[in-house]
Amino acid sequence: TQTLNGLAAAHGRYFGSATDNGELSDTAYTAILGGGEFGQTTPGNSMKWDTIEPTQGTFNYTKGDAIVTFAQQHNLKVRGHTLVWHSQLPGWVSSLPAAQLQAAMENHITQEATHYKGKVFAWDVVNEPFNDDGTFRTSPFYNAMGSAYIADALRTARAADPDAKLYINDYNTDGMGAKSDAMYNLVKSLQSQGVPIDGVGFQGHLAIQYGFPSQMQQNLQRFADLGLDVAITELDVRMVLPRDATKDATQATYYNNVVKACAAVTRCVGITIWDYTDKYSWVPNTFSGQGAALPWDENLAKKPTAYNAIVTGLGGT
Ligand code: G3I
Repeated sequence: TQTLNGLAAAHGRYFGSATDNGELSDTAYTAILGGGEFGQTTPGNSMKWDTIEPTQGTFNYTKGDAIVTFAQQHNLKVRGHTLVWHSQLPGWVSSLPAAQLQAAMENHITQEATHYKGKVFAWDVVNEPFNDDGTFRTSPFYNAMGSAYIADALRTARAADPDAKLYINDYNTDGMGAKSDAMYNLVKSLQSQGVPIDGVGFQGHLAIQYGFPSQMQQNLQRFADLGLDVAITELDVRMVLPRDATKDATQATYYNNVVKACAAVTRCVGITIWDYTDKYSWVPNTFSGQGAALPWDENLAKKPTAYNAIVTGLGGT
């Protein structure tokens, strides 16, 4: 039978879904996650700093390992998410004196990337370094080291796991604009300094009420033209609830456009949706009154509009 990952694999790509530990006890859910539709997964929370190193020097890999185990049992490649991010940071990191931030960051990266060496094919080494206007986002790392924390994080990750593809990942960089220009200039500057960088992740958190990102394919292509892999890492397309046929149709167009943009760029290695079912979407918890963002509904039924739009975008019928 035709699957999303099978269609993607026919042209050398993967199609994946994020997941989380609580969901792995939902057997109807795992039957689909591990049932062939997907060839890749990303832990939505379980490899983040607050989960892995909740107190300084104490590492807990239980949750991340559980997702790796599920993935290995069901032939899903794992994207590591994420080593350095301003959010879901335990309080002790934010409280450290600036002079101790670099060592703490390097130790976190070294420990975690070493633990998952050989188990993840890629790392979101740095997540969301930019504000929407393209300036660098303030974070404990930026405050302590300036933008040099990014190069240091990448070098540290490379030393710990030389085989993983190292990415910077952000949102609202899917189309052309100030924020994607900033990402483009950052990676060019890193490359000119010989910093290890293999790819750029485009999260793809879209909303039908805000319009489709401008020139997405051209945007992905300009990064690919720097010799980088690109990936759609956290795709979902939310709407103001309730769903109706018109909104579903617009959503389907967005899904189709994203998938076609990736498929048109040789270096676009794959697409990950940010979980596959509305049952476990992050959207309603963050954007009140919005949701229905994923191709499977809250009852784990496929939405024909969104699902078929992905199928046709991947070259299926
Ligand atoms: O685990 C606790 C649970 O014990 C507690 O009862 C419950 C009460 O609120 O919270 C649970 O933790 C939540 C966690 O998700 C697990 O469900 C956190 O409150 C909640 O903030 C957290 O949200 C995550 C969010 O990142 C945090 O920033 C989402 O699941 C996750 O999907 C989302 O993912 C991010 C990417 O990492 C980066 N890009 C944007 C994307 C969407 O925000």
